[in-house]
Amino acid sequence: MNYTVMMPAAGSGQRMGAGYNKLFLKLDDKPILIHTLDVFEGDPACEGIILAVKSDEREYIQALLEEFAIRKVTALVDGGGERQDSVAACMKVYDKDGIVLVHDAARPFIRLSVIAELVKVANEHGAAIAGVRAKDTMKYAKEGVVEQTVDRGKLWVIQTPQAFRYALLKRSSEEAQAQGFLGTDESMLVERFGQPVHIVESTYDNVKMTTQEDLLFGEILLRRRQEDFNDSHRTRF
Ligand code: CTP
Ligand code: MG
Repeated sequence: MNYTVMMPAAGSGQRMGAGYNKLFLKLDDKPILIHTLDVFEGDPACEGIILAVKSDEREYIQALLEEFAIRKVTALVDGGGERQDSVAACMKVYDKDGIVLVHDAARPFIRLSVIAELVKVANEHGAAIAGVRAKDTMKYAKEGVVEQTVDRGKLWVIQTPQAFRYALLKRSSEEAQAQGFLGTDESMLVERFGQPVHIVESTYDNVKMTTQEDLLFGEILLRRRQEDFNDSHRTRF
């Protein structure tokens, strides 16, 4: 089943503290943005990528796409002040009625198997989001004092990709916009719209490169994946 990706890349990476968009930081010898795009570039089911960028980074990003032979970006749109605005800008140039996947440019470690499952479940049910089970004990607190211990069995830590039948995402997003509601992910818009959102179990290594320590983890993950790749391609004598 084919899909299109909407990828917000127009943030400023404040928490990373690099002084510029964190997506340009390199892991190994490639910018984070390119690592993420490479995943979709290599997935035959991905029909195209709509990338939201800051207008003053457009040229630099175009040069990166050229340098790293990324061919599937079908549109570069101007992102907005909030992540949700950047995704809305992507939606303006999408004119089909297929499955769309919203994925943060800052998550380069997403696995193809999770993508495939998300697309399948979204096609069946309308909306599917990637998540992992909470590992730690979770508590509600007010001003640093515990109010309640939450039932961890029901808690999920949510990631991207988030996959939708486009018509559902569009209607949910239009309603949120009309009401001035700002969510931290697309799922919230669909939830508000009253439609069920299914969770697809993802992996703990699908981390978002947010702060400096994520980069360390990212380097290790890349090395391990490279070793796994080498092991599986080693010739036997
Ligand atoms: N993003 C975007 N438009 C915005 C804000 C964020 O397209 N106005 C994108 C980021 O580029 C990133 C994704 O949304 O790929 C997830 O956001 P986040 O990890 O918060 O990145 P930043 O907003 O760049 O980082 P920070 O919040 O630390 O400033
Ligand atoms: Mg942000």
